[in-house]
Amino acid sequence: MRSNENHIPRAANARLCETLTILLACLCLSSSLAGSQVHRPGIRRTEIFSRGWRFSLGDVQDGQNPALDDSRWRTLDLPHDWSIEGAFNKDNPAGVGGGALPGGIGWYRKRFALPVSDKDKVVFVQFDGVYRKSQVWINGHSVGQRPYGYSSFGFDVSPFLKYGNEENVLAVRVDNSAQPNSRWYSGSGIYRNVWLTTTEKVYVTHWGTFVRTPKVTEGAAQVLVTTQVKNALHSDQAITLRTVIVDRQGKSVATASTRSTVPKDSVSEVVQELTISRPQLWSVESPGLYRAFTHIERAGKEIDTYETRFGVRTFTFDADKGFSLNGKRMKIFGVCNHHDLGCLGAAINTRALQRQLEILKAMGCNGIRTSHNPPAPELLELCDKMGFLVMDEAFDMWMKEKTTFDYHLDFAEWHKRDLEDMVLRDRNHPCVILWSIGNEIPEQSDPNDTSGAVIARELAGIIRHLDTTRPVTSNCDDHKTDNVIIRSGALDLIGFSYGQGEYRLFPSNFPGQKLTGSETTSALESRGHYDMPSDSIRRWPTYWDRPFTAGNPDNTVSAYDNVSAPWGATHEEAWSLVKKYDFVSGMFIWTGFDYLGEPTPYGWPSRSSYFGIVDLAGFPKDVYYLYQSEWTSKPVLHLFPHWNWAAGQKIDAWVYTNCDEVELFLNGKSMGKKLRGDELHLRWQLTYEPGTLKAVGKRGSEVLVEERKTASEAAKIVLEPDRKTISADGRDLSFVTVKVLDKSGTPVPDAGNLVHFKIAGEGRIAGVDNGSETDLSPFKADSRKAYNGLALVVVQSTGKTGKITLEASSEGLKSSTVVLMTR
Ligand code: GAL
Repeated sequence: MRSNENHIPRAANARLCETLTILLACLCLSSSLAGSQVHRPGIRRTEIFSRGWRFSLGDVQDGQNPALDDSRWRTLDLPHDWSIEGAFNKDNPAGVGGGALPGGIGWYRKRFALPVSDKDKVVFVQFDGVYRKSQVWINGHSVGQRPYGYSSFGFDVSPFLKYGNEENVLAVRVDNSAQPNSRWYSGSGIYRNVWLTTTEKVYVTHWGTFVRTPKVTEGAAQVLVTTQVKNALHSDQAITLRTVIVDRQGKSVATASTRSTVPKDSVSEVVQELTISRPQLWSVESPGLYRAFTHIERAGKEIDTYETRFGVRTFTFDADKGFSLNGKRMKIFGVCNHHDLGCLGAAINTRALQRQLEILKAMGCNGIRTSHNPPAPELLELCDKMGFLVMDEAFDMWMKEKTTFDYHLDFAEWHKRDLEDMVLRDRNHPCVILWSIGNEIPEQSDPNDTSGAVIARELAGIIRHLDTTRPVTSNCDDHKTDNVIIRSGALDLIGFSYGQGEYRLFPSNFPGQKLTGSETTSALESRGHYDMPSDSIRRWPTYWDRPFTAGNPDNTVSAYDNVSAPWGATHEEAWSLVKKYDFVSGMFIWTGFDYLGEPTPYGWPSRSSYFGIVDLAGFPKDVYYLYQSEWTSKPVLHLFPHWNWAAGQKIDAWVYTNCDEVELFLNGKSMGKKLRGDELHLRWQLTYEPGTLKAVGKRGSEVLVEERKTASEAAKIVLEPDRKTISADGRDLSFVTVKVLDKSGTPVPDAGNLVHFKIAGEGRIAGVDNGSETDLSPFKADSRKAYNGLALVVVQSTGKTGKITLEASSEGLKSSTVVLMTR
């Protein structure tokens, strides 16, 4: 379990939690275990190791040398992404597809001391992810490297450590200079967390537990726990391995104890079988977790504790009926997302990820595809806790390149290690229901070149060697029956990329096979921008292989869900086909959020995508409410566009709703009533006149009302924080929406006012944005233009408790101030 709190040992937390829960349980039996709360030194410590690093941009001669004077390097906390701090430029080697931000080489160094009492321990440094080509040294000794920017990896650094008053220097060189190496924005640097783990010499190995629940009934769940124990001592060790399972209420529900002798200098595996009676099942609605605490005891003394979170659930993919969770049929309402967090760049932040998931959950989304790479571990922890089904994906390419310097250059040497590490790291997460070995892999398409079949079988084999509880899939954009990867037999489930119109042929083309829409849609929208009329569908760009000349001169795309990439479909087109066929297990829409890079259909000055249901700043586009009306049972009545047009202009008014009927009124006059029926949106063609457009929806006895009013000139700013109190941990965030309103409080739909921010107290500005795909001003700034009436300022706590005052001002507008608290 990751903690946002700095310097709180993970295992100590876990131990305390477990002690408290057992204590609670025992108190009920009128006995007390208070003594077990005492901290026992000598057990595993896992500390976040992300504070107080030194950073230098550019290559440094001998940067690993401990004697090097780094006192003038910049001091910063990880996670860190240096690309997001740079300036957009179409000539940056990442290209516009990669987000047009700089790459390069950077060095990180951290000095630290360890107590003499750690001398007989094993010390690991673990990196959740470094983009890319990282090399690591401790005290000048090379401990290893990792080319792939999305793998989590670690090193035993104990042989090179110093203790007591002597200082250690950890140095990391990161090389993201060879570009393009990605089709989307990657970020650069140590962009995920780093951990320092200290154990005794007999310990549970890294990712060393695997918890499975092969048999689950209402009455009982069989739990198989496999634990790898390493003995780094030079004599055999007799141990007792005790596993305690604790439920979501914190009650201990099953235990097992196994005696074993671990031979010297080796790793032993212990398998234990436990039973949970009347298990509480993990589901998207009730995503509760169990925790397994592994204790290693030697001569009656505990020498290691390790916590594994897991869930009890069953699921199946069926060739006729699609997906079921815990025996209940359901569709996967999923989205694909890249890893960037908008104006925060690639630097992982748990709250920023959680906010994305909250926004998606409120839309009814229940699935995430980690396109096209292993995600930050925090994402899976959140998906476990919040109830999302995850398609965990390994690669965007194998041996055949997609960009000149991408992972195809490292694939031969590293794919086994990278794939194994993904599975080992992620296989205890109940949220993960699919392993994807690749996205639109070029090797799938040439029936005369069967190298793809060999690789597909190898990759599937690597996964099955470590986990047989989840299907292996791949996102295939070639739907022909001679698709090399599909024909290889390596896949348990076929993933179709687009071609939603071909679903109908699937049962006859691939009899008996199972299907999910592993990538769908690729519709395009700019938030708050509307082109009239809305009744035709455009595929942009028209010709993928020629410069794009159609479109709007200001690089906007209409938000009426009537524009899609030529290989894709509009949201309505794709969803209606997924909805229609029971055998289609679900969909993963390209994409949940806009992301940096890949600004299809445009090029420069566009630098971020148009595919999101939600824009880069986290503001939903209209189509968000289409899904909400289809995927949730909450009452939805969403009316658009805004109501500021030229007199006499023909305007299409759309409504997304799950009401039975909606009546529209313009300035009090009925424009007609429409029944919901099978239509996914309702549409009225109106002649504009200023005033109020009002939709009145009826849903059974419920009446819903939504209005759009003509705004006058921009007059004031309003600040709306998503959270007014945040943690004073130096990481937590408040996302403050900046709205430009007229004097009577109506949003000004095309407002582009430049807003300045002043912050005082225990906060800083972590980033600013507005969701525009073409705004080239920096994200790390204290001002931002509004885009179609909205902007965003992300406030981060400094690490101290107190008050944060944020003021927003803009020429000619009434300013606004909001006070936040850090606790
Ligand atoms: C797909 C690809 C995605 C993204 C998308 C844009 O073909 O898998 O990574 O490029 O197209 O429509």
